[in-house]
Amino acid sequence: MYTILVHGGAGNIPEDKAQAHLEGAKEAVKAGSEILKSDGSAMDAVEAAIKVMEDNPTFNAGTGSVLTFEGEVEMDAAIAYGPNLDFGAVAGVKNIRHPISLARLVMEKTDHVLLAGQGANDFAKLMGFEYHDPITPQRKAQWEKYRQEFMNGNYKDWPKLRELFKEHPEFLHGTVGAVAIDSHGETAAATSTGGVFLKLLGRVGDTPIPGAGTYATIEGASSSTGLGEGMMRILFTKTALDFLRDGLDAQHAAESAINYLDNFVGTDAGIIIVDRNGNVGIHHNTPNMTWAYLKDGMNEISCGI
Ligand code: GLY
Repeated sequence: MYTILVHGGAGNIPEDKAQAHLEGAKEAVKAGSEILKSDGSAMDAVEAAIKVMEDNPTFNAGTGSVLTFEGEVEMDAAIAYGPNLDFGAVAGVKNIRHPISLARLVMEKTDHVLLAGQGANDFAKLMGFEYHDPITPQRKAQWEKYRQEFMNGNYKDWPKLRELFKEHPEFLHGTVGAVAIDSHGETAAATSTGGVFLKLLGRVGDTPIPGAGTYATIEGASSSTGLGEGMMRILFTKTALDFLRDGLDAQHAAESAINYLDNFVGTDAGIIIVDRNGNVGIHHNTPNMTWAYLKDGMNEISCGI
């Protein structure tokens, strides 16, 4: 028995981009499910799935990440291992190809949980990661447009980034996530992101914070997408897995987590969950969230947006 489920971000995905999102999510599920089919681990499967999406410029993770206000890319990523609550994460890391693999090395090669900024980059160098420029021409052009609009005062007052992102959910979509359970019953979750457009340098979102954007326990595994500032405040993925522990199935846990978020912080978000029985939960309060999954016994990948 195994299941792998991925998301490609919540937000407002334009129709002409939908096919690329769906294909990208399916490719990620394929990479992860090949590992699970050959009795591989959930950890290897979620890492492989995320690496595929980090290499796909359609998504806001790795190559194709959104730019900060200053025009740089700072990426966050995290991986969680359910059986013993292990967790590894990086925040604000620059110029590497696969932040998710660096997050895993934080978990496996250090006594820490989260490395940030220059320290994360120094660790990447130590681990042999090569220089990689994740800025694509498309993201640069979007950044120039949004920044110009902001500088021209075309946005009404911007006292709170959150209000801005509520009005422009297209800024948000693109964080990628994967959750899996393997044939040994072990769960894992992984999430990777460039964060949100025009963020201040040094801003860290929910993705690398344990229980906020990424979490796994013996009950299940969860990854989220959306505006991190809200999700961090309610430990979104931990809350969702608490609902599993209280007896809800994966789908009801996902729905309850979004309801809880709506009631307390009202942030745009999406969530995916796999439970210990291999059931999936998929829910979002945004117009779109790309998702795809494969369970043992299914002939075809199921996907939606
Ligand atoms: N959920 C991605 C972020 O807020 O950084």
